[in-house]
Order: sequence, then structure tokens, then C-alpha cells
Amino acid sequence: MKRYFSKNERETIGLAKKIAGRLKGGEVLLLQGELGAGKTTFVKGLAQAFGIKERITSPTFVLMHQHRIKDKGLRIKYFVHCDAYRVKSARELGDVGLIDWLGKPDTLVVVEWGEKIKPLLRGKKYTTIKFQHGKKENERIITIRA
Ligand SMILES: Nc1ncnc2c1ncn2[C@@H]1O[C@H](COP(=O)(O)OP(=O)(O)OP(=O)(O)O)[C@@H](O)[C@H]1O
Ligand SMILES: [Mg+2]
Repeated sequence: MKRYFSKNERETIGLAKKIAGRLKGGEVLLLQGELGAGKTTFVKGLAQAFGIKERITSPTFVLMHQHRIKDKGLRIKYFVHCDAYRVKSARELGDVGLIDWLGKPDTLVVVEWGEKIKPLLRGKKYTTIKFQHGKKENERIITIRA
């Protein structure tokens, strides 16, 4: 387990970029934390690190966005961003095709409200990243558990 403190949005982006540098492909990151905790901000940092130019927004209604990673030097080719906030059953994300991406060696899967998709993972490896508010308005405590 590793715990980080972020003082502002920029630091959360910076942490995401640092984490991105360690990812090899095939990872599933489950982001947890209440509304406004910083999950999408973290996803923006990851996307920046992979050179994704499209605007990153929470796929609250379509549930899943797929981005192609164009950098030929990277093993990760696809960045899949899900938001399970509105999902009542993990099956809804299964239905939009998430299962096909999970654990694919050329794909990074990141799921906001990720605890909700655990039924789809069945034995697959995942990392949870938890976002909590700190004492001050812009402080966040970010805990990573592989
Ligand atoms: N240290 C920080 N890290 C991340 N975001 C911060 C920080 N301090 C302030 N913020 C602000 O908090 C908000 C975080 O919003 P964000 O969309 O990332 O949250 P979220 O967890 O994805 O919420 P939701 O569940 O609604 O999707 C942004 O407005 C951001 O500017
Ligand atoms: Mg969000």
C-alpha cells in the first residue's frame, strides 16, 4: 500500500503521470472516492502521459470511452475509461464491452467508482486507487493498493 498527499489539482495530475510511467499494459485501475474527490482529474493526468489529445470527460452516460494511444514506442495501445457511477449492476458495463478489454496486454483500463465492477473481474488482477478529501479544501489523500 502506498499513500500520497496532493495539495492541488496540478499535484494530482503529476502523480498520475508518475504512475503512468510504471504501467506496462494489461492493468485495471479501480478509482474510488466520493463526488469531486479527483478521480477524473487523475484520469486526465494518465491520458496526458500517454499523449491522448481528446478531451477527457467522465463517461457517465455512455459508461465507457476508448482512446487510441498513438505513441508507437509504448506497449499500451488502448486507454479505456469507464464511469460506473450510474451503473446498478456490473453487467451493464459488461454489456458495453468492458469484459473484452480487461487484462488485455495492450490496454489500460481505468474505472471511476470502480468498486462496482468487481463482479466482472473474477480472479483478474487489479489495483485500487482511493481518493479522500484532506483537511484543507484542495487537499487529497490518494491511497494505492495493488
Ligand atoms: N488536490 C486535488 N486533486 C484533484 N482535484 C482537486 C484537488 N483540489 C481541488 N480539486 C478539484 O476537485 C475537483 C475534482 O473533480 P473530479 O471531476 O476530478 O472528481 P471525480 O472524483 O471524478 O468526481 P465524480 O465522481 O463527480 O466524477 C475538480 O474541480 C478539481 O479542480
Ligand atoms: Mg469523475
